[in-house]
Amino acid sequence: MSGSPENPGARTLAEAARAVAAVVQGRSADEALAAADASPRRSAVRAVALGTMRWYLRLRPAMDALLNRPEALARDIHALLVTAGYQIEYSRDAPALVVNLAVEATRVLGQPRASGLVNAVLRRFVREARTLLAPMDAGSAVGAAHPDWLYEALADAWPGHIDRIVWANNAHPPMVLRLSTRRRSPAEYLGDLAAAGLGGSVLDWTAAEAGSAAVVLDRPAGVGALPGFKEGWVSVQDAGAQLAPRLLGATPGMRVLDACAAPGTKASHLLESASGPLDLTAVDIDRNRLGRVEENLQRLGLSARLVAADVRDPSSFWDGRPFDRILVDAPCSGTGVIRRHPDIKLLRRPTDVAAFARTQLEILRAAFGMLAPGGRLVYSTCSVLPDENEGVVRRFLGEEPQAAPAPMPCGEDLAPGGIARKLGTQLLCGGAAGTDGFYYACVEKTTRGS
Ligand SMILES: C[S@@+](CC[C@H](N)C(=O)[O-])C[C@H]1O[C@@H](n2cnc3c(N)ncnc32)[C@H](O)[C@@H]1O
Repeated sequence: MSGSPENPGARTLAEAARAVAAVVQGRSADEALAAADASPRRSAVRAVALGTMRWYLRLRPAMDALLNRPEALARDIHALLVTAGYQIEYSRDAPALVVNLAVEATRVLGQPRASGLVNAVLRRFVREARTLLAPMDAGSAVGAAHPDWLYEALADAWPGHIDRIVWANNAHPPMVLRLSTRRRSPAEYLGDLAAAGLGGSVLDWTAAEAGSAAVVLDRPAGVGALPGFKEGWVSVQDAGAQLAPRLLGATPGMRVLDACAAPGTKASHLLESASGPLDLTAVDIDRNRLGRVEENLQRLGLSARLVAADVRDPSSFWDGRPFDRILVDAPCSGTGVIRRHPDIKLLRRPTDVAAFARTQLEILRAAFGMLAPGGRLVYSTCSVLPDENEGVVRRFLGEEPQAAPAPMPCGEDLAPGGIARKLGTQLLCGGAAGTDGFYYACVEKTTRGS
């Protein structure tokens, strides 16, 4: 092994460890990895960092068992140990090589004095990993690398599905595209993929969706390598997220509100699927994220009115003319998309769920106030926790006399493995369709009580 700090493997480990340390301190993986974006090792750093985040809660206790005072260690060095532990446990690299690279990485991190400790701890980890990890694996939450509270909440909500959910949460997600079938037929696009050296298959159950179909790639690829990406034939979107147009049923000329629109994936799908133009207003509280809606619409050749506002304050942006259709794709815990964002397991706190549920109810109330009588609202989240889903819809229906559940395809009629709830349908990550976890419910405005 060269002792040079220029060793790319050592740099990759060090940059990944920095990102892991930042997430442990409460930053999102996207923010934490932004620093590595310019790195020539960007994809390797991302893979190692996200993999470590995925398994952090299983590996950290094993590593800590080898340290006298883990809390006294510099954060980057602590993260380096867990990151190297991930490489030893989950990569094909020879353990001795990983140990050497981690020792070098202490210099990259500006902490060469930690090299002896890193060397000693990791050598013991290599020798004793099976014994160290056995007690972790005996505890279901730690063995599954989930925080206790989340494991319990998932097991309470989905007792028959918990093993598959945590397995799927820790698996690598498929890359799924939404193909605009008005621009390219599924058969043509599969041919385009093959010509570009990429394989994929069409999910037939999404092809029922007028105007689009989901295509699962055999292997993830950069968007630059996707045929027709720049031309707007395809967007990256999980198949479970591709159900909003079907549920909303917007027809040309309708006034439609996307109440939580950024980055615009569902807004663009609504526009793309309609057989004629929609009068779409896309609202988001986050001005920066709204910029991404603009980029997406431009790439796809679509248009909408974009508004940076808190949808809970309609007076700040609404002209008083009711909307025929409203999509509330609410901010949520993201517990249905953990396989794409493993940092969620490190960032969420048990109290977050109730806080999200409060915000969701407030957003739902405000959005419903802008809905025309006879109009339809779709409420969706990428959460699998009932408190954010049917819990919110139930409370809302209980307090709003003009709101009623609207008919919708439920359970398997919506998607393979869809679970019909008393209100709405839940897709689970790890369910039969292989989608992320999404929840959908439809509410209509009656003239009752008006
Ligand atoms: C789940 S994301 C929406 C994803 C989007 N529908 C898509 O498919 O691309 C939730 C969005 O709600 C926005 N948001 C949160 N609170 C809001 C509020 N009070 N008013 C408007 N937007 C809000 C967030 O900034 C975030 O972009």
